[in-house]
This record gives sequence, C-alpha cells and structure tokens, in this order.
Amino acid sequence: MKILLVGATGTIGREVQRRLSNEHDVTTVGHKDGDYQVDLDNKASIQRLFDEAGHVDAVISTAGMAAFGPLTELRDEQFELGWHNKLMGQINLLRVGQRFINDGGVVLLTSGMLANEPIPGSVSVSAVNGALNSFVKAASIELGDKVRINAVSPIFVKETMEMMGMDSSAGMSAADTAIAYQAALDGDMTGEVIDVRDYA
Ligand SMILES: NC(=O)c1ccc[n+]([C@@H]2O[C@H](COP(=O)([O-])OP(=O)(O)OC[C@H]3O[C@@H](n4cnc5c(N)ncnc54)[C@H](OP(=O)(O)O)[C@@H]3O)[C@@H](O)[C@H]2O)c1
Repeated sequence: MKILLVGATGTIGREVQRRLSNEHDVTTVGHKDGDYQVDLDNKASIQRLFDEAGHVDAVISTAGMAAFGPLTELRDEQFELGWHNKLMGQINLLRVGQRFINDGGVVLLTSGMLANEPIPGSVSVSAVNGALNSFVKAASIELGDKVRINAVSPIFVKETMEMMGMDSSAGMSAADTAIAYQAALDGDMTGEVIDVRDYA
C-alpha cells in the first residue's frame, strides 16, 4: 500500500513508520521534517501536500496539537489550537484528501483516551478527542465501502511521560501503540474508535 503518514516524525509516528515500512511504501510527513511538510492548521497547506504527494491507498495521521490547562484558565487561543490543529486539521486530511485516496482506501486519525477518561486539565483535549471519535463514526456512514475511516485512541505514551518527568509505569510504549495502527490498517473495521489497549 502507498501510505501518507502525517506526523511521521513524532513519538508515535516514528514507531508507526518503523512498523509499517517493511510491508508498505510509507511517505513521511511532518511539520518541519519528513519527505513532505504540512501545517494542519492551514487547509491550503493540506491541499498542497496532496497535490504534491498524489494518490495514495491510506492516510494515517499521528499528528494534532491541543492545549492542556484548567477550565478556568485556558484562553480562547488555547482552545482554538485544538479546534484548528488537532480537530479540523485531521478532518481536513479526509475532506481534502478524499479525491486522492484510492477506492478501498483507509484513513486513520488519532484521538486519545482523554475523550472518555478525562483528568483535571484535559477539558480542551477531551473535547477535541471526543469530537474526532464522533466524526469518524458519522463519516464512515457516508463513505461506505469507498474509504474506511477509524480513530486510533492512544493512552499516555511512556516516552512522552518520561519526557515530561512523569512516572511512566501506567503508560504504553510508542512501539506498542503502533500495533493498533497496523491492526486498524489491516482490519476491515470502519467508523470505529480503536483503543490501543485492545491490541498491545
Ligand atoms: N504522546 C502521548 O502520550 C499521546 C497520548 C494520547 C494521544 N496522543 C495523540 O497522538 C498524536 C501524536 O502524539 P505524539 O506525542 O506522537 O506527538 P509529537 O511527538 O509531538 O509529534 C507531533 C508530530 O506532528 C507534527 N506536527 C506538529 N505540528 C504540526 C502541524 N501544525 N501540522 C502538521 N504536523 C504537525 C510533528 O512534525 P515535526 O516533527 O516536523 O515538527 C510531529 O511529526 C497527537 O494527536 C496526540 O494528541 C498522544
């Protein structure tokens, strides 16, 4: 399969690339690095990405930013980061990418466990993740057999927790997280939220 992996240079994306590149032709996309660059915040940049990369069998996103912070302290622009970058950025990968995805293709977006298991400070991230989960369920109804679409929902990644100085014992390694992306690529499910804990 020819796969466009957006976020390929990130913590999860690097392991997804490593896992998939034995069997597939993976084109890496980052914000600053990778074979191609894109800014999820900018729809024109997503359009340019597909114009340059051409037709693919799968689009996998392991990108998307949203801000953590207490409900009473988050500023408008911090909420908007999540709406514009992680939510609409990933939705636009499907909206713009649709005509570049071959029939029978696959789109995998990334949400996260905070959709259903919020913690203090996750209001914005939880809202974005929940919206992404609902989006793939609804979009799959209209896409039918043409393109499968699923959201992969990671738990905290060990490497990220270590980078933040947190105890990582409850986290999952990025390599184990990547297993769920492969399962969602190889499977026949659509409109589903893939909990990484069901695959590692
Ligand atoms: N890590 C976790 O614990 C965890 C847990 C649950 C859910 N998630 C979700 O999983 C996804 C990936 O997380 P991660 O920790 O692997 O992220 P990460 O290490 O911060 O990597 C982010 C990736 O996105 C790219 N990127 C940054 N800004 C971008 C922009 N404006 N447009 C397009 N691409 C951009 C980066 O490219 P460059 O390297 O070129 O800058 C990089 O490839 C995110 O949606 C995150 O919310 C992560």
